[in-house]
Amino acid sequence: MDNILDYDTVTLDEEDNTLEIIDQTQLPYRTQILKLTETKDIWDAIYHLKVRGAPAIGVAAAIGLYIASTQADTDDIEEFLNYVREKKEYLNSARPTAVNLSWALERMEKVCLDNRNLDIPKICSLLKQEALKIKAEDTEMCYRIGENTLGLLDKGYGLLTHCNAGQLATSRYGTATSAMYLGYERGYGFRIYCDETRPLLQGARLTAYELSSAGMDVTLVCDNMVSSLMRQGLINAVLVGCDRVAANGDVANKIGTSVVATVARRYNVPFYVCAPSSTIDLSTASGNDIVIEQRPAEEVTEMWYERRMAPDNIKVYNPAFDVTDHELISAIITEKGVIREPYLKNLKGF
Ligand code: MRU
Repeated sequence: MDNILDYDTVTLDEEDNTLEIIDQTQLPYRTQILKLTETKDIWDAIYHLKVRGAPAIGVAAAIGLYIASTQADTDDIEEFLNYVREKKEYLNSARPTAVNLSWALERMEKVCLDNRNLDIPKICSLLKQEALKIKAEDTEMCYRIGENTLGLLDKGYGLLTHCNAGQLATSRYGTATSAMYLGYERGYGFRIYCDETRPLLQGARLTAYELSSAGMDVTLVCDNMVSSLMRQGLINAVLVGCDRVAANGDVANKIGTSVVATVARRYNVPFYVCAPSSTIDLSTASGNDIVIEQRPAEEVTEMWYERRMAPDNIKVYNPAFDVTDHELISAIITEKGVIREPYLKNLKGF
């Protein structure tokens, strides 16, 4: 295999019961497949963004919890349930903003609770089925998101995306990129622009890489070039993914998303958020209630540079996500359909 798209972003190797992921911190230079069995290593892979993107970390954690369940050293059901809950809470602590992580882990725990009358090996096998189901559903949802998004786009459009909401962030197709893949297959002739996405460069390292590997027309720009592109009329729509949709339609996504949305409004460019319905969190009232992950200062001051590019001891603010106000969002596109304002009312049915 020599194309990144031929690899599974995250999968269960059923033969040796390991979680297999592409180590995304090494892309685009090296395609290294990691095989993980220890919960600590899986937590670490999620925290360090070896596997990343909201849907992909949900799938990785679900497979991780299944693997952990097979390592429980007890035949007492109460002890087993406590053990699974502990592992679930530990994995959930790796990253706070993407709701897909807790959503997938809750689904897994529910399988245990609903089947507590069965013996432990049987519960483990149901957990395996559930983890594989979460992954298969993710592929199907991404495909549907692509179809629903494509209905809003015309041939020849210039499309801008931010961060990586691509195949590398999901099981397949991506969310924001799904319509790009489908459009490419169907001859839409899109011109894709992706921004670098400081500080971790998911746009440059991952989106530019996967879309160009697919053969698409992709142009990489720095984050601060987006306004210039829009002012020249080169962008007809923005497509981004997201980590959590609050009940009022506010959306948390990679830091910088709200800048792109604000500029898009200035130039009347539609701003679409593409996400599976599992990303909608009606228990979170608004963007103000979303916990935003803070990351180490080194990601800003020295990572990717040959030498440190900031004064020693400078204060650094490094939130991994920001909130885009619902007023700036033209539509939220899920596998079930296109949701528009008023979000508070229209998100309820999803
Ligand atoms: O920190 P990351 O790389 O996990 O951030 C990813 C994003 O912000 C994506 O846009 C989001 O998770 C949606 S992925 C389909």
